[in-house]
Amino acid sequence: MSIVVLISGRGSNMQALLDAGLPVSAVISNRGAAKGLALAAAQAVPTSVLEHRDYARREDFDAALAAEIDRFGPRLVVLAGFMRILSPAFVARYAGRLVNIHPSLLPAFTGLDTHRRALEAGVKLHGCTVHFVTAELDHGPIVIQAAVPVRAGDTVETLAARVIRQEHVVYPRAVRWFLEGRLAVERGVVRVADHATEAQWVFADEA
Ligand code: GAR
Repeated sequence: MSIVVLISGRGSNMQALLDAGLPVSAVISNRGAAKGLALAAAQAVPTSVLEHRDYARREDFDAALAAEIDRFGPRLVVLAGFMRILSPAFVARYAGRLVNIHPSLLPAFTGLDTHRRALEAGVKLHGCTVHFVTAELDHGPIVIQAAVPVRAGDTVETLAARVIRQEHVVYPRAVRWFLEGRLAVERGVVRVADHATEAQWVFADEA
């Protein structure tokens, strides 16, 4: 029972999953320059790179990616800062066993540049969301969310730092629930067996 983690960059969420002792059988990146690859390799986790630029069509890249993932036979595929839109065929192949973390309180601020947009919108709470991946970008059933305050004087950097600390808290928790077989999705709503819904949110009133 293992997970495969897909990254494109720094890999701090991947590291949080490793630190939590979760069974990561491989880390795959679409960018050879992703810093997280070296982190994973240093911890003896198998890594591979599929440069998306080497593939003419999105479908071709996604098919190669799926073949690589399936070599490891994971129970769950975990997107951790994987900055590629996935084709409907890929999403369908891993339906119910593909999760993502997004740096906003979805359904607010789907897409990119979430911290800047949150500041510009003047929201007072911001955060992150772990969700199952469906065909619609950043819209799948929500497993857990963490909220943080937006403070006077926040910049994109200070707000991003406050949010990512919570990403590292909630992502391992969500993945563990999945591997324990506790997550059930009913009409688009996720429940965790043996837990009240309070387990599915965090409010971090930190500096
Ligand atoms: C994280 O903040 C993650 O939520 C975000 O990219 C960052 C990756 O950081 N993901 C997205 O924006 C997905 N649309 P990391 O590489 O240090 O985990």
